[in-house]
Amino acid sequence: MTLGREKIHFLNTPTPLTHLSGISEDLGIDLYLKRDDLTDFGTGGNKLRKLEYLVKDAMDQGATMLLTVGGAQTNHGRLTGAVAAKYGLKAAIVAVDPYPGEISANLLLDGIMGCPVYLVQQDGVHTDGELQAAAVAKVTAEWEAKGEKVYFIPVGGSNELGILGYYDCALELASQTKEMGLTDVRIVSTVGSMGTYMGLAAAIKNENLPFHLTGISIMPRKDAAGEALEYYNRAKAFHHLPETMTADEFDVNCDYEYGAYNNPVREVREAIYYMGRREAIILDPCYTGKTFAAIMGLTKEGIIRQGEKVIMIHTGGIPGIYTRHHREEMEKELKDYIHII
Ligand SMILES: Cc1ncc(COP(=O)(O)O)c(C=O)c1O
Repeated sequence: MTLGREKIHFLNTPTPLTHLSGISEDLGIDLYLKRDDLTDFGTGGNKLRKLEYLVKDAMDQGATMLLTVGGAQTNHGRLTGAVAAKYGLKAAIVAVDPYPGEISANLLLDGIMGCPVYLVQQDGVHTDGELQAAAVAKVTAEWEAKGEKVYFIPVGGSNELGILGYYDCALELASQTKEMGLTDVRIVSTVGSMGTYMGLAAAIKNENLPFHLTGISIMPRKDAAGEALEYYNRAKAFHHLPETMTADEFDVNCDYEYGAYNNPVREVREAIYYMGRREAIILDPCYTGKTFAAIMGLTKEGIIRQGEKVIMIHTGGIPGIYTRHHREEMEKELKDYIHII
């Protein structure tokens, strides 16, 4: 139980905290990876920590079905489908996105785990938000007419309850770093819908944990610190958190978003190849690849100091390398690795 809320504890935590000796040596920092990509079910990832709380809440409310939203290739949707399969619930995903031309990556895994995906087409009239809301209402009504009780989970599982997953992760990191004798640590986390970052930030502040937290936004944002403060204040009210925060306490770096969400970027792929070749760990092109590219960039800029201890959260997302637009770029770059003899 955290902040008075219970969860269904289905993860094999603590996840490993692994030292990356080769990259540490190359970059002149002390880099560790928090292996949240190794969490159970549906090929793993950060959303499972949030879902431990969200599924408990859904079951307490008597829900029989989880409904969530995201892009066609949502990792969060895939993991919502995974947890539903494990706990005998139904699940569905609504995405305002065109059909990507093939059933691969997360779409394939969704189908394997029995989770339908509703792809809503843009109509040139309504905003994506309006189209999504209308589709959620329609799909909910359809399933409720069949006798299901639908529990809605917002994008990325990033609501007030969802932050508890990474609140717990920060506490877990505090005990792991203590055991390992690591002090003066910077945690670097990807920022998408912000629930992961906010859980960590809320715990660091309210539990007085000895970490500096840097978020890496993987998409353009107008006012990252303002967004974080607004989210924190909602969470503070919901959980009755004692600590007040100000916008300048949120370190969300937007210099490595590379122009758009989930776009193919050469530097990000190079970061992925470097991690694969030096540490045999696979990153994804949408989230963790950008975050690792940012760690290299911030080290070069001197913002991450030489010798600094850095923990990057590996939030998963590996199916992303199999999405068509990323895979095709990598195929061009890696074709010389195939030798037909
Ligand atoms: C693999 C992966 N990493 C990081 C994130 C970002 O987490 P959050 O949405 O909590 O900011 C996501 C969100 O979809 C994700 O799928």
